[in-house]
Amino acid sequence: MTHETTGTSRVDGLLAQLSVAEKVGQLVQYFYFQLPEQPDAEASPETDPAQSTTVEAALSRGAAGSLLFVTKPEVVNRLQRRAVEGSPHGIPALFGFDVIHGLRTIFPVPLALAASWDADVIEAAQAVAAREARAVGIHWAFAPMVDIARDPRWGRMIEGAGEDPYLGSVVAAAQVRGFQGDHLGAEGRIIAGPKHYAAYGAALGGRDYDEVDVSDSEFWNVYLPPFAAAVAAGAGNIMSAYMDLNGVPATGNHWLLTDVLRDELGFTGFVVSDANAVKDLETHHFAADPADAAVRAIHAGLDLEMAVADAAYAHLLEAVQDGRVPVELLDRSVRRVLAAKEALGLFENPFVDEAEAARVLGLPEHRETARSAAEASAVLLRNEGGLLPLSVPDVSRIAVIGGLAASARDTLGPWVFDYDLAETVTILDGIRALVGEAAQVDFAPGAATPQRLFPSMFDMFGDGTRIDDDVDRAAERARAVQLAAGADVAIVVLGENQDMIGEAASRSSLDLPGDQLEVLQAVVATGTPTVLVLMNGRPLDLQWADANVPAILDVWYPGTRGGEAVARLLFGEAEPRGRLPFTWPRDVGQVPIHHATTRGHHPQTQHARYWNAEFSPLYPFGYGLGYATFAYGEVRVSADSIPREGTVQVSVDVTNTSDRDGTETVQLYLHQRSGTSSRPLRQLKAFQKVGIPAGATRTVVLEVGPEQRRYWSSATRGTVLDATTFDVWVGPDATAEKGASFTVTG
Ligand code: BGC
Repeated sequence: MTHETTGTSRVDGLLAQLSVAEKVGQLVQYFYFQLPEQPDAEASPETDPAQSTTVEAALSRGAAGSLLFVTKPEVVNRLQRRAVEGSPHGIPALFGFDVIHGLRTIFPVPLALAASWDADVIEAAQAVAAREARAVGIHWAFAPMVDIARDPRWGRMIEGAGEDPYLGSVVAAAQVRGFQGDHLGAEGRIIAGPKHYAAYGAALGGRDYDEVDVSDSEFWNVYLPPFAAAVAAGAGNIMSAYMDLNGVPATGNHWLLTDVLRDELGFTGFVVSDANAVKDLETHHFAADPADAAVRAIHAGLDLEMAVADAAYAHLLEAVQDGRVPVELLDRSVRRVLAAKEALGLFENPFVDEAEAARVLGLPEHRETARSAAEASAVLLRNEGGLLPLSVPDVSRIAVIGGLAASARDTLGPWVFDYDLAETVTILDGIRALVGEAAQVDFAPGAATPQRLFPSMFDMFGDGTRIDDDVDRAAERARAVQLAAGADVAIVVLGENQDMIGEAASRSSLDLPGDQLEVLQAVVATGTPTVLVLMNGRPLDLQWADANVPAILDVWYPGTRGGEAVARLLFGEAEPRGRLPFTWPRDVGQVPIHHATTRGHHPQTQHARYWNAEFSPLYPFGYGLGYATFAYGEVRVSADSIPREGTVQVSVDVTNTSDRDGTETVQLYLHQRSGTSSRPLRQLKAFQKVGIPAGATRTVVLEVGPEQRRYWSSATRGTVLDATTFDVWVGPDATAEKGASFTVTG
C-alpha cells in the first residue's frame, strides 16, 4: 500500500516548490511556552525565556510547521504572521494544544465524562471545547485520550474512558465528533488527535511511561478498538505513544504506525509523536542517535515530530541528502500535514478575530453545558436509608468539611491551563448558593491538605499552591468535628488533589491521601448523618467508607460549574445518573482488575485467589445508583438460533418502581460458551440510557450481531466469528442477573 493522502492542486503545487529544508520544517512541531512568572523556577527548556526566542526564529525561517501550547489569540496572530510572512510560500502554522476537557469552560475530567455513559453529553462538551479553542486560534486537540486503563495506579487513567473497549469506543467516537463535527474543517471545530497510540495504559506496574507488554489478543481485542472507533469517526490525527510496545518503541514501530494504523484501520490523516518521543527512540536504546531516530521514525510512519527543542527531524535534511530517507517518503508526510492545514481553511484564514475570541470564551451557554455534563457524570455509590437527596427544611445546619470543598483549582482537575478560577464554582459555593438563607452552612477543612511526596512537573504552570498549607492539623480536625456534631448533616469532601492524578501522577497506593480517613471517621463518630463526596480520577480505597458512611457520591473533578452541579445533585434538583466506567477494587492489592476476565481453574474458590481478602471488587463495572429504583423483567431474545451473520434483538422491560422520574443505564453483557479462543465471562456489548417516569415501564431493545461477536483469536491470528451458544444478560451493571441464551449455527 502507498498510504498516499490525495493531494489537492494547492498541496501538490507547494510540494513542487518547497526545498527539502522547507519540507523538513513542515514536519517539526515546537512547544511555545507562555509561563507565569516564576523567578525561582529551576532552569529547564520549559522555563527558559530563550526557548520562545529560538522557536520564533525557527518559525520565521520556515523550520517549524506547527506549534503547541499557545492559547492567547493575540500571540497566535503574532506567531502566525511570522509563519505566513516568514515563509516565501506563505504556509500557515498549525497550532495544537491539550484541549482535554475544555479550554476556558472546564468540563468534568474525561473519565467523568465517560461515567455519564452518554454520547450526547460527551459530544456536546467537546464541541464547546472545540469552539473555544478554535476561537483563540487552536486548530487541533491532542485528545481524546482513548487508552484503556485497568490499573488505577496509573494516573493517566483520568484522561481516558476506563477499562472497557466497547464503552471506550463509544466515548472515543463521541469525542471525535464533538471536536471535529461532521467533517474536518467544519466551522468552529478542530482536528481530533486520539492518543497515545497504542496500549500506553498498560504501563508496567501502573508507572507512567514504563514499558508495555501486552499479548496480541489484548492488543487487538482491548487496546485497539477505541482507536479503530476514533479513526472510523474520522479523526484527522493520531499521536504515537512514548513507550516500548512489546519491545519496540511505539514511535518507531512500523507494524503499529503503518501495518495496523494505515492498512488495517484505514487511517489517512497525519501522525504526530508524543513530546520528544522521536528523540526518546535513542533513550529507549533503540536508535543509535537522534539522526537514526528521525530516519527510523519517518520510515515507521511518523509524520510530525513534537519537540521541546532541537528536533530530531532536523536531521532529515542530511538523511534525504545521503539517501537514508527517499524524498518521496518526506513528501508523503508533508502532504499529510499540508492537507490538514488546507482542510482547516488556514491558507484562506490563518488569523483569528481577537474580539470574537473574547466573546466566545465568555458564552454563558458554555457554562450551562459544563454544569449539565457535571450532573450527568456523578456516580452515586451508596445511599443507605435514602439519606440523599437532602431537603432544606429537614437540614437547616449543614457542615461542609474538607479542603477540596473550597478549592477552585482542584474542582477543575488536572490537564487545564487556561481556566478562570474566579468564575469556578466550588462545592462549598454551590451549596451556599443553593440553600441561600434557608440553611446555615459552615465550613472547616478538617485537615491539612496532603501533598505529593515528589512534586508534580505541572507545578511549573502555577498549579502547586494549596489553600491551607499552614493549618494546625489537630485544631482543624477538632473544629471540623465540632461543626459536624452540631449540624443536621455533614458533607465531607475528600479525595486526591488535582496534582495527584494525571500525567506523571502514578501512585503505589489507593488510600485517601494524608489524614482524610481519620477526619471522616471522626465526623461519622459524631452520629451526624454523613455524606461523603469524592473528588478523584481513580478508584480509592473506600472499604471503611462503604461499611460506615451512609451516602457516597463520586463527583470526580467536576469543572467550572462543578460545585453548582454537586449541590443540585445533593439536594435532588438533579438526578445522579453516572455509572462506573471501571471496576472499583477494594484495595491496591487487587489491581489490575476488570470485569471481562476469562474463567479459570477453581473459578469461585476464594482461598485460591487471595486467602486474606475478598477477590470480588467493591463496586462492579457499570455500577451506580440514582434516586429512582428500577426492576428488570425477564430477558427475551428474538430467536433461539441465528445464522453466523445474523442478529438477535434482546429485549427487557424496565420498570421505575419509585415515585420519582429517573434514568436507567440498561447494559447488555455477552458470553460465548465455547469457541476458537476462551472468551471472557462477560463483556459489555451494548447499552442504552433510558428516562423512565415514576411508575412507568419501558421496553428496551438491544442488538447482538456479528460485530458484537467477532474477536481476534491468537489461535488463528486473525478475527473469528464462532458458531456456538451465547449467554446474554441485561441489567444495571456487570453483575446483571437476568439473562437468556441463543445459538449461532454455521
Ligand atoms: C503527553 C501528551 C501531551 C503532550 C503535549 C505529553 O507529555 O503525554 O498527552 O499531549 O505532552 O502536552
